[in-house]
Amino acid sequence: MQIDVFTLFPEAFGWLLAQRHFRNALAGQLAIELIDYRATTPLKGGRVDDQPFGGGAGMVIRVDVLEAALRARYAIDPVALRARRRVIALSPGGRLLDEELVGELSRERELTLLCGRYEGFDERIIEHFATETISIGRYVLAGGELPAMVLADAVIRKLPGALGDERSAAEESFSAALEGNPEYPHYTRPAEFRGWRVPEVLLSGNHEQIRRWRVAQARARAQRR
Ligand SMILES: C[S@@+](CC[C@H](N)C(=O)[O-])C[C@H]1O[C@@H](n2cnc3c(N)ncnc32)[C@H](O)[C@@H]1O
Repeated sequence: MQIDVFTLFPEAFGWLLAQRHFRNALAGQLAIELIDYRATTPLKGGRVDDQPFGGGAGMVIRVDVLEAALRARYAIDPVALRARRRVIALSPGGRLLDEELVGELSRERELTLLCGRYEGFDERIIEHFATETISIGRYVLAGGELPAMVLADAVIRKLPGALGDERSAAEESFSAALEGNPEYPHYTRPAEFRGWRVPEVLLSGNHEQIRRWRVAQARARAQRR
């Protein structure tokens, strides 16, 4: 999979790329390219934004800046690009990122992520260059970098070889194995701490009973929430 991230802050991604599941994926089937809008902006002094027509607070990322960045990377008209790959503009009001969408994105060969800043994108970017908008939650962050990292992290965990143990992703919160429910509780040593005992079934060694207990716990959690 190839993920291209367009951003004003490529350096923000350093920590994430150093994480083990990213390094595993990057050593295999993942390539990530960080592209700085400022590297190709047609405006003087590295500018990428301008005041909103109609007035109001904040600055808006310009459509000509996005066009230049996308053209430089893909060497085609960005309007035609979206027929070839998913071009995702991160936006608080977009489609909510959930397990279903993460699974869908993990099956793509290529993704383009556009990180906004300030007041966000000129709407023509969304209308003519992006295939969709995605939100990581109904709240507003300062920029699209954290949302892009959240999306990339969730998608990359699904790639074969990213996790040390493939079973980690197969049976976790919202997976089919758990009927889409939140994951059951985990415990480790010591078996008793301050009088708090680990459920006996987990110490029983009876795998079928443990499996049934876990499924029941996941269902109960879903009902409580
Ligand atoms: C300060 S926000 C702009 C908020 C915009 N004026 C609004 O009210 O919807 C700047 C950028 O951060 C990103 N962003 C902020 N919150 C986000 C969220 N919950 N999900 C996805 N992207 C988000 C988007 O790329 C957005 O363009």
